[in-house]
Amino acid sequence: MKSTIGTIVTLTLAGESHGSEIVAILDGLAPGIPVDEAFIASQLALRRPQGAGETARREEDAFRIVSGVLDGHATGAPIAIVIPNSDVRSSDYAGFSGLARPGHADYAVHARCDGFEDLRGGGHFSGRLTAGIVAAGAIALKALRAKGIRIGTHILSCAGVSDEPFAVDPSAQLDRLEGLRFPVLSDVQAQMEARILEASRAGDSVGGVIQTAVTGLPAGVGEPWFASADGVIANAILSIRGIKGIEFGSGFALAGMMGSEANDAWSLTPEGPRTVTNHSGGVNGGFTNGMPLVFNAAVKPTPSISIPQRTVSLDGAREDQIEIGGRHDPAIVRRVCVVATCMTALAVCDLLALRFGTDYLR
Ligand SMILES: Cc1cc2nc3c(=O)[nH]c(=O)nc-3n(C[C@H](O)[C@H](O)[C@H](O)COP(=O)(O)O)c2cc1C
Repeated sequence: MKSTIGTIVTLTLAGESHGSEIVAILDGLAPGIPVDEAFIASQLALRRPQGAGETARREEDAFRIVSGVLDGHATGAPIAIVIPNSDVRSSDYAGFSGLARPGHADYAVHARCDGFEDLRGGGHFSGRLTAGIVAAGAIALKALRAKGIRIGTHILSCAGVSDEPFAVDPSAQLDRLEGLRFPVLSDVQAQMEARILEASRAGDSVGGVIQTAVTGLPAGVGEPWFASADGVIANAILSIRGIKGIEFGSGFALAGMMGSEANDAWSLTPEGPRTVTNHSGGVNGGFTNGMPLVFNAAVKPTPSISIPQRTVSLDGAREDQIEIGGRHDPAIVRRVCVVATCMTALAVCDLLALRFGTDYLR
């Protein structure tokens, strides 16, 4: 098994939900890139559960950088970040150990690991591991900002409530999203939170769609065919557990358009060639085209629900019924936003390193 992503700029995740700590190792950054611990902490705070109906598990995310950074700058050696798990309650899971929780990875992991897996709290496959993605991705995000490349994510829809989508030029909208705990562009937070609480009270959960934009990317980033800009980002985003789909630009809606509608007409602007619309989501032929890179990702409803569900034992010997207690989010869509932003930052750094070398970000 392997838990590493990236070709040049790589992230390795270690740890389990109920282990002593999560470890993220970020490798491939050029020496001299600033590492701002306060900024990392601010991004981790956005991922932390804190609002309407969110899990009562309280993790301080008091991380330590144990290698690869000296006097606030990357040394060029791998950066290892350790994030302790301080609020672990394995007893929450005792009642259904040995059963496959529907919607969770339990049965598939058991098949993969031949019974040697640690499934306490979801083990290595838990959403808790995304703290490592955020900590490492925050370093990439800050390095990209210094080059004028910005990334932001908002909740495009949740439980039937829709937010305003990104405009062709999303710059002003990215400003508005900066630091928002509940990242939406229009006045829909109360409505979304009410629907999430409603689901929670019914012992159920809801999903949603998130939308990410990357601005300031030069045209021509991506590799032909197999490390295309959209392919690398899709792999990164689909690595976030609970995300089940991704579309770039107008995505699946393109399938129902006429060519004359779908094509993005080119025009000359003071900044160079730009398209009038952005149905392609900033990618043509696998390369960035100078427009904002925009994608939507589908976040499924949180699998842990307290409604009784039909299941089987992990050994496949019997059918059973499962009721999941413990501490869970009725919707993870808010918390996934910062994870998607940070994961995108890592993928973009990797793509830039493939195109220009790692010194591009210095
Ligand atoms: C930030 C984050 C937090 C999550 N928190 C929970 C949670 O509290 N309860 C839960 O059942 N699933 C949670 N998940 C989702 C599960 O980890 C995920 O659905 C499960 O591992 C199965 O993976 P899959 O949905 O990709 O197939 C979370 C995911 C993320 C990214």
